[in-house]
Amino acid sequence: MSLFSSSPAFRVIRISALLASVVFAGSLAAQSRDDIVAERMKPVGEVCLAGEACAAGGSAPAAAAGGEFSVEATYNASCSMCHASGMAGAPRTDDGAAWAARIAERGIDGLVANAISGVNAMPARGMCMTCSDENIAALVEYITTQAQ
Ligand code: HEC
Repeated sequence: MSLFSSSPAFRVIRISALLASVVFAGSLAAQSRDDIVAERMKPVGEVCLAGEACAAGGSAPAAAAGGEFSVEATYNASCSMCHASGMAGAPRTDDGAAWAARIAERGIDGLVANAISGVNAMPARGMCMTCSDENIAALVEYITTQAQ
């Protein structure tokens, strides 16, 4: 036995077995590296159109507060850009007189209808495509009462 194990032929077998296992382990490692690369090369986000169910999650403003519609968060995300600054001639949220004049002219329902359909430089739904008509009505109520 000891004579056999020290023979050069047995050593060659042992070494080649060792080499084979190293190559085998190396190919396993290469395999899992490929998987990791494939994982890293996946697109970061999937295309999700506004209004689709998938758009309601994550960064959609209407879902800002844990899936619940939040008037304040949606105002900040969708309406304040124009209505806080008066950009593009938007009536400012803090301009109570401007809102009072508009309400006197066509009523709160008229304002809501225009906010939904868009009017002049006011885009439809203030570009909040996840907002329902009720959400817009709540936002109009919010905007028109901030100055009071
Ligand atoms: C891109 C800028 C912009 C954004 C964003 C925007 N608005 Fe406006 N909004 C305007 C402008 C400009 C007007 C004035 C339109 C006019 O009367 O000529 C306006 C007018 C309005 C009016 C008055 C409509 C009327 O009949 O007098 C309401 C109500 C309103 N916006 C609500 C909203 C709400 C709610 C949001 C957010 C969901 C929003 N807006 C987002 C620009 C914007």
